[in-house]
Amino acid sequence: MVGLGTMGTGIAEVLAGAGRAVIGIDVSEAQAARCVAALEASTARAVERGRLTGEQRAELLARVTTSTRLAAAADADLVVEVAPESYEIKQQIFRELDGIVRPETVLATGTNALSVTRLAADSAHPERVLGMHFFNPAPAMRLVEIVSSVLTAPAAVTAVTDLALHLGKEPVAVGDRPGFVADGLLFGYLNQAAAMYEARYASREDIDAAMKLGCGLPMGPLALLDLIGVDTARTVLEAMYAESRDRLHAPAPVLKQLSEAGLTGRKAGRGFYTYEAPGSGTVVRDALTPLPGGSFAVGRPVRAVGVAGSGTMASGIAEVFAKAGYEVVLAARSEEKALGAKARIGKSLARSVDKGRLTGEAAALTLERVRATGGYDDFADVDLAVEAVAEDLDVKRQLFATLDKVCKPGAVLATTTSSSRSSPAPAPPHARRT
Ligand SMILES: NC(=O)c1ccc[n+]([C@@H]2O[C@H](COP(=O)([O-])OP(=O)(O)OC[C@H]3O[C@@H](n4cnc5c(N)ncnc54)[C@H](O)[C@@H]3O)[C@@H](O)[C@H]2O)c1
Repeated sequence: MVGLGTMGTGIAEVLAGAGRAVIGIDVSEAQAARCVAALEASTARAVERGRLTGEQRAELLARVTTSTRLAAAADADLVVEVAPESYEIKQQIFRELDGIVRPETVLATGTNALSVTRLAADSAHPERVLGMHFFNPAPAMRLVEIVSSVLTAPAAVTAVTDLALHLGKEPVAVGDRPGFVADGLLFGYLNQAAAMYEARYASREDIDAAMKLGCGLPMGPLALLDLIGVDTARTVLEAMYAESRDRLHAPAPVLKQLSEAGLTGRKAGRGFYTYEAPGSGTVVRDALTPLPGGSFAVGRPVRAVGVAGSGTMASGIAEVFAKAGYEVVLAARSEEKALGAKARIGKSLARSVDKGRLTGEAAALTLERVRATGGYDDFADVDLAVEAVAEDLDVKRQLFATLDKVCKPGAVLATTTSSSRSSPAPAPPHARRT
């Protein structure tokens, strides 16, 4: 293992855990010591959780040795290079390795975005060079992308694919392009999240919450950048940008600023968020953490809610309000459509009853709170009107003009549009309530 940082430490644990002897090499002695300390700590946790016996832990740790010299790799069957994402550093390592290892030793790079093909072509035996792209944290993430260049020998690919399977991973075969599959799709998104944060469009907590709660991702993009390492993410994006020339990959300036300030994420104890200690994943309060309870002005009370529309969103939103105890007027273009939407709510509630999440009585009461109607006159008494009609500016404008006439002054009119350009701000005097 060449490079004992975030990835090298994780991959060393996986390999040693699967019975392989690991020679860990890092230019920094202090980093090698940190790697060993991290392995000791994580295997101690595994013993506490009953995943390893004390004896297995001792054997695992004994399989890992460290050195600051590449020559220590002389007897390796496989070298996994996970040094920093710099072509010059990696090329230098591969060149030196050519003079150290046996000719049949497979050389794998852990790069995210640099050209595996170029690294291979610049080395003495291009056929034994490939990419072995683990994901962070390596012990937990199952995917390994096995990257072939046009020069790679099939036997080398088979060797590392079999090894990945033996490690309990899911290898996928990919060709050489910046980011391969997963990061090729992921990094543009992470970069845009950083830019959105930088533009103060939303707070870091809200950006992360949006992707977790709105898109069902296990982690928000800024927390993920901290996990990956802000510096690593920046160099990966730079490499991708150099290859793709796609502005999507031009690193957001905040990534450079944080990197240069040493705020590289979890490994430094601070990045977008602040952590309990370097290496910890526990976020602690800092100057940017929102105050508990938020800092909003006192709101108007909302008791009755009107929902406009008869589609999936309208019925879903009406169901949420009714379940929470609000009286809901569900209005559509015709009574028939409104009743159809209410019937959909009834079915959804019945499914909840079947699954034991709701009692039959609660479901009946919830449905009773929804009044379906074919016009908007009944919105006269609502405190909040939520529209979920077609995503069409003219349709929404017309509806807002109607709501402006019908709703009482002080009622809040909310649109569920997902495109800000079609936001149907109504004419004054009630613009402030929208
Ligand atoms: N962090 C991630 O989420 C992630 C995921 C997949 C792949 N990668 C890739 O893995 C590689 C390593 O990333 P990382 O996050 O572990 O970086 P890192 O900065 O945490 O670790 C890099 C390590 O390499 C050492 N090093 C520097 N020059 C060296 C040399 N000449 N020889 C040996 N060691 C040297 C450094 O001292 C450091 O310990 C990069 O190519 C990165 O793109 C990272």
